[in-house]
Amino acid sequence: MSETFRLARADEVPQVARVVAHSFVGHPASYYEQLLRHGPWGGLDALWVCEDEGCIAAICQLLPLQQWVGGTCLQVMGMASVAVAPTHRRRGLAARLVTSGMRFARERGDVATALYPFRASFYQKLGYGPAGEAYQYRVPPEVIPDSAERQGIALVESDTARAEVRDVYERWAPTQTGQLRRTDAIWKRLLQSDGRVVVVYRNQAGSAEGYAVGRYRADLPVDARFLEIEERAWLSPGARRGLYAWMGSLADQWQQLVYRAHPAERFGDRIEEPRILRTGEPGWNLWFPSAVLLAGPMFRLLDIPAAFAARPQFGGTSLMLRLEVEDGQIPENAGSWEVRLENGRLHAARASAGTPDATLSLGIGTLSRMFVGALRPSEAVDAGVATIDRPMELPALDQAFALPRPWTFDAF
Ligand SMILES: CC(C)(COP(=O)(O)OP(=O)(O)OC[C@H]1O[C@@H](n2cnc3c(N)ncnc32)[C@H](O)[C@@H]1OP(=O)(O)O)[C@@H](O)C(=O)NCCC(=O)NCCS
Repeated sequence: MSETFRLARADEVPQVARVVAHSFVGHPASYYEQLLRHGPWGGLDALWVCEDEGCIAAICQLLPLQQWVGGTCLQVMGMASVAVAPTHRRRGLAARLVTSGMRFARERGDVATALYPFRASFYQKLGYGPAGEAYQYRVPPEVIPDSAERQGIALVESDTARAEVRDVYERWAPTQTGQLRRTDAIWKRLLQSDGRVVVVYRNQAGSAEGYAVGRYRADLPVDARFLEIEERAWLSPGARRGLYAWMGSLADQWQQLVYRAHPAERFGDRIEEPRILRTGEPGWNLWFPSAVLLAGPMFRLLDIPAAFAARPQFGGTSLMLRLEVEDGQIPENAGSWEVRLENGRLHAARASAGTPDATLSLGIGTLSRMFVGALRPSEAVDAGVATIDRPMELPALDQAFALPRPWTFDAF
């Protein structure tokens, strides 16, 4: 075995695309060739391969993403298109490929990495932690209350309106955890492709304050069709009411609406009947099934001091936390860290001889989830995935690490 992990050369893309076509079946290699060279999130510069005995045995993309965390945009590697040739499976190659890719990304300055897993447990062993949840509602649109703000909804059909949508997203995304900074190519794909409906909400003064992107799922059998809301954002309560009311107003055409809500949105409290339609899900005694909890995005720190330096802390606590971190892939992260929480910042440095206020011991996956707001320190301790010597410090740590729970609209 003579494996080499490195960036792909331009002349190798056809061979790389053939490996991908064996793994993501349904498109020809020529489709992947185009995508790997000029994908919306990254091209040849992001293409990582394993060469074994002169042939391409595995590939992945190390996409240069910008992800919003606590109002700061972090440089994050998006791990995508992980594919191992069908002749090279079950020998640990995917794990070695991902690990080598993480190391490369860290060296180029990425402080963390994000992905959507084919199997969460595989990536958990590599230090990624689940970092994104959404409730999926499937309801008849008429359960959504009407409101006067529905007057402010207009179809997005001009370049000016498309620019308004983009502007709303760009103002809204920094207030969220996990949303990505988007390229022109992403916006083009989202706003100009067929089969979608895009609406904008303008307030009485004419300023855009919200939008929604929907997809008409007319590709399904008639009784299974639904209107799917792919994304929505608002900057004011009025925009939110207007967008909800617009969805409700489509009830004569669509018997089903599929809507994904952030857990903090409490969409179920806004509608008249949160019982889910057409599901095989069992109830529980007198309980009925409502939304389905969707999970997917995972997140992992690559560079602890650089990531902590970029992330604000909240809650005004001043304390010194010792972290004892296990990291099986990136030894630079492993061991003792002294994290000083003061003046709204987190500062991580190698531990000195000082006495900490508390010592938290945990794996990199758990620390990554805490960092990105997916898991509070007290929840981690309660779940048994972290231990602390002074549990009385947990409320202060919860406050310091508090962020809106993460989610993202973008598939990469
Ligand atoms: C998913 C995929 C990338 C995995 O590739 P792989 O090289 O077989 O993966 P690995 O060998 O590193 O690991 C797979 C499992 O095999 C196990 N394994 C590793 N070496 C092994 C060996 N010698 N014998 C048996 N099993 C082994 C690993 O431990 C792992 O199981 P675990 O998660 O329970 O630990 C590959 O099947 C593929 O290309 N699939 C299609 C495309 C796809 O789904 N890509 C993922 C998109 S994100």
